[in-house]
Amino acid sequence: MERVLVTGAGGYIGTTLVPMLLEQGYKVRALDRYFFGRDLLGQHDDLEIVKEDSRRMPAEVLSGVDYVIDLVALSNDPSGECFQQATWEINHESRVRTARLAKQMGVKRYILPSSCSLYGWQADGVIVNEESPTNPLTTYAKANQKAENGAIELADKTFCVIVIRQATVYGYSPRMRFDLAINGMTYGAWKTGKLPLLRDGTQWRPMVHVRDTSGAMCFLLRADTARVNGQVFNIGSEANNYQLLPLAELVRDALPVDVKIEWYGDPDNRSYRVAFDKIESLGWRAKYTAREGALELYDALEAGRTDKTLRTITLQWYQELVNWHKIIREVEMYGGIVDL
Ligand SMILES: NC(=O)c1ccc[n+]([C@@H]2O[C@H](COP(=O)([O-])OP(=O)(O)OC[C@H]3O[C@@H](n4cnc5c(N)ncnc54)[C@H](O)[C@@H]3O)[C@@H](O)[C@H]2O)c1
Repeated sequence: MERVLVTGAGGYIGTTLVPMLLEQGYKVRALDRYFFGRDLLGQHDDLEIVKEDSRRMPAEVLSGVDYVIDLVALSNDPSGECFQQATWEINHESRVRTARLAKQMGVKRYILPSSCSLYGWQADGVIVNEESPTNPLTTYAKANQKAENGAIELADKTFCVIVIRQATVYGYSPRMRFDLAINGMTYGAWKTGKLPLLRDGTQWRPMVHVRDTSGAMCFLLRADTARVNGQVFNIGSEANNYQLLPLAELVRDALPVDVKIEWYGDPDNRSYRVAFDKIESLGWRAKYTAREGALELYDALEAGRTDKTLRTITLQWYQELVNWHKIIREVEMYGGIVDL
């Protein structure tokens, strides 16, 4: 059996990807700080949990590993701006370090899950592909760009490196994120009948379902080395390239309730329309529509399988943990609070 090390395994994508890998017959070593909870991955004979910080990960974690999928990150722009130093350390430095260690330890293939947000802002009418100049605008996007460059440099005959630039992800996952566009829209519509839409609605954003992007990673573990080594692939589909107002209208019309669109925020300075021909030329296709993702999430909310809590808003949860860390350090004595 082949073994995959997944970092950031306890996150939104990781908690969908890990069961998929197990189902496909891989052994999985799941490394994470488990900021969002350890219980989300469950238990499995072929699943090994490693609670570790990617910045301090010892080389032995890579022993017996065939593939690495390096999901670990502070995973959005607001977290990147709030925790800039940590974003450079985790999203850029730790991932290049992990790629380097992986190469030294004889790992065959390393996949870096980056983001289409590297395209930043593009003029109307421009459709970017993997050869287009990037335009990273935020700390998060800049750190991804550096991680991409650092990882790709390591590709050679014995070490296959693949970068994927994921569209904005949506859909139900055990570690839920309501700070992502379609998920946040669906939640607002379900909870209050008000669908939040970031101004001014003309910005382009590609979308991809969490099971599709996870499926793409599984697909790329098996793809022909000659066609993928040292390469970047956008992950998404032309059908899921949206301007946000039509996307909001689509979500509104899909749901079985009366929904009003409510604007929020300053006008978004990110807009990118993306081509996905390169990954499709390998034979991979996204399966899920935005409508299906919104409906599936609506059903999960109705059934009580998920809800919006602080934990589902990435930045708020990290801020909460940092605040409680301060408070606990002040009141903790002899390793306890009320009980010793
Ligand atoms: N979700 C999206 O829309 C999207 C889009 C493009 C790219 N990405 C990228 O995909 C990857 C996964 O995203 P996600 O949505 O699952 O994010 P997430 O925040 O849900 O998951 C990240 C995981 O990393 C862990 N983590 C953070 N710092 C760590 C550290 N120093 N050591 C160990 N673990 C640590 C967290 O506990 C969390 O479980 C990230 O690299 C993200 O930037 C996501």
